[in-house]
Amino acid sequence: MTILMVGSGGREHALIRKLAESPRVTRLICAPGNGGVACDAECFPVSADDLPGMLALARRENADLVFVAPDDPLALGMVDMFPANGIRAFGPSKAAARIEASKVFAKGIMAKYGIPTAEYAVFESAADALTYIKEKGAFPVVVKADGLALGKGVVIAQDLAEAAAALRAMLEDGKFGDSGRRVVVEEFLTGPEVSVLAFTDGVTLAPMISSMDHKRALDGDLGLNTGGMGTVAPNPYYTQEIAAECMEKIFLPTVRAMQNEGCPFAGCLYFGLMLTPNGPKVIEYNARFGDPETQVVLPLLDTPLIDIVDAVVDGRLADIDIKWKDAHAACVVLASGGYPEKYGKGKVISGLNADGQASNVEIFHAGTALDGGQFVTNGGRVLGVMGVGDTLAAALETAYCAVEKISFEGVHYRTDIGKKCS
Ligand code: AMP
Ligand code: GLY
Repeated sequence: MTILMVGSGGREHALIRKLAESPRVTRLICAPGNGGVACDAECFPVSADDLPGMLALARRENADLVFVAPDDPLALGMVDMFPANGIRAFGPSKAAARIEASKVFAKGIMAKYGIPTAEYAVFESAADALTYIKEKGAFPVVVKADGLALGKGVVIAQDLAEAAAALRAMLEDGKFGDSGRRVVVEEFLTGPEVSVLAFTDGVTLAPMISSMDHKRALDGDLGLNTGGMGTVAPNPYYTQEIAAECMEKIFLPTVRAMQNEGCPFAGCLYFGLMLTPNGPKVIEYNARFGDPETQVVLPLLDTPLIDIVDAVVDGRLADIDIKWKDAHAACVVLASGGYPEKYGKGKVISGLNADGQASNVEIFHAGTALDGGQFVTNGGRVLGVMGVGDTLAAALETAYCAVEKISFEGVHYRTDIGKKCS
């Protein structure tokens, strides 16, 4: 079986390495991939959101299955394109991917089907939004651009002036283009955050092991929001009782809601949850595997990933018994100095083997390139260093031990991944 992976980050690298474990997978290719992915899959220079280019590549390389990992091609309808051309594809349809691509759509689904989430209203006018915020009089208040905004479309405004600035930027100055023509204004929630990824074929849903992301750039959850600086799995706040409550009040109702709306969701559905004093609530849905959650969840999977992927695509997930390892995983992201703002590229990375790996850990390449046989930096998040252990402390120690041996000019990482868990 030949699989084409669409994307170029650490998530895609983790998916490729897990799929490669199965002897049924004879060839893995990736577009566009990166320097480290190239050690595990042949990479082709086709951009992830180039639909005709990806179809031509899949045809030319005789791909049996295309795995669409990132949000942009999903929102553009890449998965709808392949079956029409006789190629199987993993991921939601364009209509189902709206659950991530439009926050207005997602909030509408939750309101209509009684799925717990922050109280909200939708606006196209900054003046109307400000009137609503003044009437509510509760701060902080959260302002979100409707569409995809590279993780930068959420502003937690501490007062009216900050809310006004965010609304102006989105609705009047067009900061996020069409993504910000409508905004969701919502109540600020508190509590530990949990990420739960789930396989679903549109009818059956199988949650994966829970995880915790660390989104801020600096230790102590300070600094700017990033794509994610590190993860641990399982998430200790996510008890069995909470998991059962989420299944009943959030996961299954969401799957049924999507069916009922005529856009069943097949693929990986990501629940970003907050465990509030009033129970678990949805902060956001993603229509894909999370990054860097995937890098700690998949290493704990004990069932061949390709078997689950096949079952999802063929609509027979109910037939599969998915097993997890009784272990812990931790991933520390090494980022370029300056990320998530301006950063340099092309810095030589030392401490990796010729195959881009290191002893005792798995290295997932996010932003690297190969330059004359050397790995160099080529993005904001550069590497994810993942360790597994019998306890979270052991997993963290393994990961951090390896992190200390890898370096490049300006390297930055958080030293407190998983600290909130002990
Ligand atoms: P997102 O870009 O949608 O992943 O949101 C970024 C982060 O903003 C989330 O991980 C939360 O920490 C925070 N956030 C989003 N919505 C809310 C909310 N209603 N209350 C509190 N924090 C929120
Ligand atoms: N780690 C959060 C995300 O993938 O959006």
